[in-house]
Amino acid sequence: MQTDELTAVRVLEGPRVRLVPLGPEHFDSVWEGLHDAESMRLTGTRTRFTEAAVAAHLARIGAADDRADWAILDRSTGDYLGEIVLNELDEDSASMNTRIALAPGFPGRGYGTEAMTVMLDHAFAEIGLHRVGLDVYAFNPRALRSYEKAGFVVEGRQRDTLLWEGEWTDSILMSVLATDPRPTFR
Ligand SMILES: CC(C)(COP(=O)(O)OP(=O)(O)OC[C@H]1O[C@@H](n2cnc3c(N)ncnc32)[C@H](O)[C@@H]1OP(=O)(O)O)[C@@H](O)C(=O)NCCC(=O)NCCS
Repeated sequence: MQTDELTAVRVLEGPRVRLVPLGPEHFDSVWEGLHDAESMRLTGTRTRFTEAAVAAHLARIGAADDRADWAILDRSTGDYLGEIVLNELDEDSASMNTRIALAPGFPGRGYGTEAMTVMLDHAFAEIGLHRVGLDVYAFNPRALRSYEKAGFVVEGRQRDTLLWEGEWTDSILMSVLATDPRPTFR
C-alpha cells in the first residue's frame, strides 16, 4: 500500500468530474449539504454540527494519513457537486470504506457514479487497496444502482440499522475488490 497517497491527496479527473482535496475552501457547500433534509435522511445523519466543528474537520483532514477526502467538482464549470471519502483504513488488509454524497440538485445525472469510478481507479492502482467497502440504506435504490454500476457487489444485509421517522430500515453491505470487473476511465 502507498499510504503517502492518503497524506498528500491527489487531484483526480474523469470525463466530467474533477476530484480535488476537500478543505476549508469548501466550507459553505459542505455546510449546506449537512443541513439538507433529504441528504440527512439518505445518509442517516442526525448530528447537528456546529460551524466550528465543521471548520475544524475541514482543516484537519488534509493532513490525515488514514483517510482521503475529495470535493467533487464539475470539470467544465468548477461548480461543487459533492464529496467522496475513503476512510476506515485497515492497512494490514489493504482495505478501506467509502461514502459519497452529491449536493442537492446533482443526483441522477451520472456524476456520482463517475466520481466513484475515478476514485476506485485511484484506490486500486495508486493507493494499492485490495478492497473497498460501503453500506447503504435499503430505502436508497438510486445509490444501490449507482454502486452496482461502479462495480460493487452486495455482500449482505444488516437488519433494522436505522430508525428514521418511525420506520426501520436495513443496511445493505457492498464491496468491490481490486480483482473484480468494473468500468474504468483509465
Ligand atoms: C448515491 C449517488 C452518489 C449516486 O450518484 P448519481 O450520480 O446520482 O448516480 P447515477 O445518476 O449515475 O445513477 C443512478 C442510477 O439509479 C437509478 N435510479 C434512480 N432512482 C431509482 C429508483 N428509485 N429505483 C431504482 N433505480 C433508480 C437510475 O436510473 C440510475 O441507473 P441507470 O443509469 O441504470 O439508469 C447520488 O445520487 C447521491 O449522492 N445522492 C444523495 C446522497 C446519497 O444518497 N448518498 C449515498 C448514501 S449511501
